[in-house]
Amino acid sequence: MTGKIVLITGATGGIGKATAIGLARLGARVGITGRDLSRAEQAASEIRTLSGNPAVDAFAADLSSQAEVHRLANAVLNAYPRLDVLVNNVGGFWAHRHSTADSLEHTFAVNHLASFLLTNLLLDRLKASAPARVVTVSSHVQAEGRIEFDDLQSAGNYSGQAAYSHTPASCAQTSALKTKPESSQS
Ligand SMILES: NC(=O)c1ccc[n+]([C@@H]2O[C@H](COP(=O)([O-])OP(=O)(O)OC[C@H]3O[C@@H](n4cnc5c(N)ncnc54)[C@H](OP(=O)(O)O)[C@@H]3O)[C@@H](O)[C@H]2O)c1
Repeated sequence: MTGKIVLITGATGGIGKATAIGLARLGARVGITGRDLSRAEQAASEIRTLSGNPAVDAFAADLSSQAEVHRLANAVLNAYPRLDVLVNNVGGFWAHRHSTADSLEHTFAVNHLASFLLTNLLLDRLKASAPARVVTVSSHVQAEGRIEFDDLQSAGNYSGQAAYSHTPASCAQTSALKTKPESSQS
């Protein structure tokens, strides 16, 4: 991965951080994101130490907010002249329904809309860096997931499990990119 640049959302802990350590060990420049800059800087420092790779950058954005997704995309475009891999890892499970600053249901906003919007905002840079990849981290619950197109905001009876299983929508976007001839593939 030497010479490659990777962005991983939600990489201050968990699967995202483990992915960042692995890709940094392979020699990539790795950008990680989290909501809080000092926490993201702390994670980046740990990833540098554990991987032996100094090329780890921290970005902060609350991806439940679409304005913040735009701000993150601009920061990434300014920082990186190329982008070889985007790992849409950010996601979580919330037992209770709540709304974002955009008045969207929070699980749908973070697990699906944030990745969809960020991918589209970075798509030209990814295509210009071909062969590039978009990786969307999902869950085994996608096998059980059923997207309620008439109630994307879970305004009816909210169930954390049902909202979480909307994840297939994000995977569908990644699959669609793969089938577009103008998309970068390898
Ligand atoms: N853990 C599992 O068992 C499991 C199983 C299947 C699939 N997955 C999927 O794997 C992915 C990672 O899961 P994980 O368990 O490793 O997650 P995690 O440990 O809970 O970490 C979540 C990451 O997302 C960030 N984050 C959370 N809310 C955010 C927001 N609103 N804006 C920006 N960043 C936000 C957190 O950063 P800060 O807190 O620093 O902001 C953190 O870096 C998710 O997509 C999840 O659905 C997980």
